[in-house]
Amino acid sequence: MSQQSGGQQDCSLIWDVMRYIGRPIHLNILLTKNQQRKANRMTQDKPVSKMSDEEIKEEVKRAYAELATASKGCCTDKSCCDSESSWSPRQNRAKIFGYPVDELPESLTESYAGCGNPVALASLKEGEVVLDLGSGAGLDAFMAAEAVGETGKVIGVDMTPEMIQKAKDNAETIGAKNTEFRLGEIENLPVEDGSVDVIISNCVINLAPDKAKVFQEAFRVLRPGGRLMVSDMVIIKPLPEEVRESIHSYTGCVAGAVPEADYLDLIREAGFEQVKIVEKSGSGYVASAKVEAFKPKP
Ligand SMILES: C[S@@+](CC[C@H](N)C(=O)[O-])C[C@H]1O[C@@H](n2cnc3c(N)ncnc32)[C@H](O)[C@@H]1O
Repeated sequence: MSQQSGGQQDCSLIWDVMRYIGRPIHLNILLTKNQQRKANRMTQDKPVSKMSDEEIKEEVKRAYAELATASKGCCTDKSCCDSESSWSPRQNRAKIFGYPVDELPESLTESYAGCGNPVALASLKEGEVVLDLGSGAGLDAFMAAEAVGETGKVIGVDMTPEMIQKAKDNAETIGAKNTEFRLGEIENLPVEDGSVDVIISNCVINLAPDKAKVFQEAFRVLRPGGRLMVSDMVIIKPLPEEVRESIHSYTGCVAGAVPEADYLDLIREAGFEQVKIVEKSGSGYVASAKVEAFKPKP
């Protein structure tokens, strides 16, 4: 089991779930000793189904604030690095998904918490306006900014102030002038109607309690003909109750995920067309899916 900085209450929990696919899942086998202590404490707390949306979002913010401010990647002491590289497990995952980790400053990749590479899917063009839902420390936004060039623009929205600050600091470090990071919720986007060509998102929508609202907002801000290209977690087999009801598993991108058919229906109900999963990896309980959809032209 990998030990990660920040207590691993963020999306990286998913990789431990994937690793145990096919075995009976008990929450404790997914967790490190430290997490088990937290999880045991949490079983005395409210189950997710009894929490309000606001309470859930506060827990999500807390987990990602912790990730954003965690002391420099766990590789400072090498205890959790891959034995063949000096990268942390997060950076290794980013590499596997095709990010040029070796060419990027560590501060861009150390907080990577995605489950795919939506920028690679989005086939971005010069001059396009891109919106990244739940932009985290900005890795996808910076990749997109390079693809759309100086005549394009990327807006990142995230509800965790520490992540927004980290993304802004990263933008300054790499001199990314065509990016802008806005504090806000993806259920209520601080973005004008019809002003965006492409929406990307990486392992975020599963964390939103009101997913229908997220897709309605995405539809509102896209221009007609605009596209939605997201990587996210979907459920492919019902989760055991102890996993479904754990807020730790929720902030870890597991318990908030919905079955893939429901996910696609929510996108269609928001008005999108040509909605499909273009790639999916994982088996057992959860999978990482790349989803594509278009806002119809009038
Ligand atoms: C799993 S991380 C992914 C971050 C980034 N996309 C990446 O790939 O590294 C989830 C991010 O989404 C943000 N987030 C979660 N729910 C959100 C919501 N409802 N509104 C805005 N941001 C949200 C969190 O603050 C966190 O930064």
